[in-house]
Amino acid sequence: MGDAGKKDIVLDYSNMMAQAVGSDHGLLQGELDGLKTRASVAHTRLMELKASGKIGFFTQHEMDTTPIKKYAAKVRESYENFVVLGIGGSALGTIALNQAINHNFIPLLTKRKRNGYPRLFVADNIDPDQFEELLKTLDPKKTLFNVISKSGTTAETMSQFMIVFDMLNRRLKGKWKKKVVVTTDPAKGILREVVNEFKLDSFEVPANVGGRFSVFSAVGLLPLACAGIDIDGLMAGAARMAQRCNEPDIMKNPAYLFSSLMYLSDTTRKKPMLVMMPYSSKMYGIADWFRQLWAESLGKRYDLQKKEVHTGQTPIKALGATDQHSQVQLYVEGPNDKAFCFLHVDKFKTTTEIPHVLEDKAELGYLAGHSLNELIKTEMEGTQYALTVHNRPNMVIHLPELSPYTMGQVIYLFEHATAFAGGLYNVDPFDQPGVEFGKNYAYAMMGRKGYEALRAEIKDKLKNIPSRLL
Ligand code: PA5
Repeated sequence: MGDAGKKDIVLDYSNMMAQAVGSDHGLLQGELDGLKTRASVAHTRLMELKASGKIGFFTQHEMDTTPIKKYAAKVRESYENFVVLGIGGSALGTIALNQAINHNFIPLLTKRKRNGYPRLFVADNIDPDQFEELLKTLDPKKTLFNVISKSGTTAETMSQFMIVFDMLNRRLKGKWKKKVVVTTDPAKGILREVVNEFKLDSFEVPANVGGRFSVFSAVGLLPLACAGIDIDGLMAGAARMAQRCNEPDIMKNPAYLFSSLMYLSDTTRKKPMLVMMPYSSKMYGIADWFRQLWAESLGKRYDLQKKEVHTGQTPIKALGATDQHSQVQLYVEGPNDKAFCFLHVDKFKTTTEIPHVLEDKAELGYLAGHSLNELIKTEMEGTQYALTVHNRPNMVIHLPELSPYTMGQVIYLFEHATAFAGGLYNVDPFDQPGVEFGKNYAYAMMGRKGYEALRAEIKDKLKNIPSRLL
């Protein structure tokens, strides 16, 4: 870990405030201070959930990672490919952290250049063509499949598993069992039953850790360790952020400050959208992971008193500098209905100089002698400036560098911020009835036993919608 890797990430929220973007769109310190009573109730509730052990993400970084590391060492010796079968919270964190920390073109590297680690693939969708392409490309003898589903019932993941189960059985006969490792609930669910019946290797998703908060359980840590990522570095970063997030005062707690800024922007400044925009391709997956966390946790029909409220700020992912040539026109001049959060890497691993060529051309010569590092930083500052002078509230999270330690901080920061925002909105951030609604539709329409009445109800509802085709 370099020196920069031991440093804390920093939130710069200057441009969220009225001094920067005017009081119609920016916040006043008095409003943050005025949130203190609500914040204190939310803090007390979180601390109770933590102390009672009902919600487990708070302490995941304290887990003993030894069994995962031991297993990963064996995988490294035996496999060329490691394939995750999972969706949503069972996939997005792994994709994000692998992209942020690992070499992004690993499948193109030789085993030696990969330091002997297998290539990691995450099959998080059921596009028949893409799944077929993946299975047809991998040699099953050299591939380990990690089936990840907390519930063990998610139709997408379980269908993938059934296809892989059949393929391995046909091609490897009795040896197929060694090619599957399962991550699921410690006791409940059909997947645990399958583990027991076929004596498969398995890891646990603790019962008190929900899907989108589970990246620091075996859900994320096993694939990441198998891909060669320093999972203890991640845990150390998370532990550091957890320590910073113990503070009850919202002005001193980075997670509470982030949620308070976004909650106030949404509810008092008409900012129902939050654009998460890393200026780093390697962190694009973090914006995607965050999108699920913020959306599923806060987008709720009912509050804690069962009153209909329809809360939630829509998270949008964007990528700097790429989306300056796609979205920023809208962000700067379109409706002023968004808050922005940039993710900035202060020190990239590489410094890529722009060479002294074509200097005689005035339109290009000014770039020579600078670096891509300077350019991407200046581009972000340009977007910040454009948003600010157009009165669009924006903030930056600075990462000293991209490392397991800083990414551990980022993940924990957003998890804790999301849980706290649930308190501010007065909703349960840990359930997802809307997701279950869609899952139940799939069960009913695909003919799952026990869902016959729902199937009839759906058909009845749909028959009243006249079909209009062109
Ligand atoms: O956050 C959640 O609970 C969901 O997004 C789940 O992660 C997702 O639906 C997959 O569920 P499971 O792990 O049970 O297959």
